[in-house]
Amino acid sequence: MSRRTVTEGWPSEPSPSDDYAEDAAADYVDAATVALRLASTEVDLTDAPPPRQGERITPASLRDAMGCLATGVCVITTVAGDDDLAMTANSVTSVSLQPPLILVCVAKTARFHDALLESGRWGVSILDAESHELSTQFATPGRDHAGQLERVQFSRGPATGVALLTSSVAQLECATTAVHPAGDHDVIIGEVKYLSQAGAGRHPLLFHRGRYRWLL
Ligand SMILES: Cc1cc2nc3c(=O)[nH]c(=O)nc-3n(C[C@H](O)[C@H](O)[C@H](O)COP(=O)(O)O)c2cc1C
Repeated sequence: MSRRTVTEGWPSEPSPSDDYAEDAAADYVDAATVALRLASTEVDLTDAPPPRQGERITPASLRDAMGCLATGVCVITTVAGDDDLAMTANSVTSVSLQPPLILVCVAKTARFHDALLESGRWGVSILDAESHELSTQFATPGRDHAGQLERVQFSRGPATGVALLTSSVAQLECATTAVHPAGDHDVIIGEVKYLSQAGAGRHPLLFHRGRYRWLL
């Protein structure tokens, strides 16, 4: 993992586009954020792609552009018969506070997809900063689905019984309320039946431009 400090890292001669970005961002940066930036390390941007404008829209360019949106990383869990299934996802979004709804977008080709639709109940474990190996494990295509959670610490959600990973900053349990087809994914909306922030004192794992990142 390559990291550098912000104070060492900014270019000494900002380009006009840097100025614009700083102006545009200024309204959104409060004092606490500035303090955090100065206190924390920053990701290495030397691997950033060259600036590109008005690109052709392809799966790759869309993935790259949306990869600029830094997210947390979740493991979604469900059950199929007696088996626990798990899949890494970062498309989890809050939808409504009243009633409490969240969504996850699941590829129709994912083996997890059919099991999730069938069971109608799912867990969301928002991973902590130590959990990048778990994220990789549950994102590995073709991995053995049987016994996926055998060597993983988890508890059973009190509302639905799905597995909730221990190494997370927050955990939610959901019951599916709607499934919206959307291209090669389904948007699955669930009502939150239980939530826990037992791990809120830990840092989250982040994902940005195809890499895991850390706040500190
Ligand atoms: C950080 C990260 C986020 C991901 N987010 C999603 C997602 O939101 N939806 C999805 O369908 N796949 C997502 N994936 C890919 C799945 O985890 C991957 O395809 C997985 O192997 C599917 O498992 P399955 O086919 O065994 O069910 C993500 C992968 C990574 C590494």
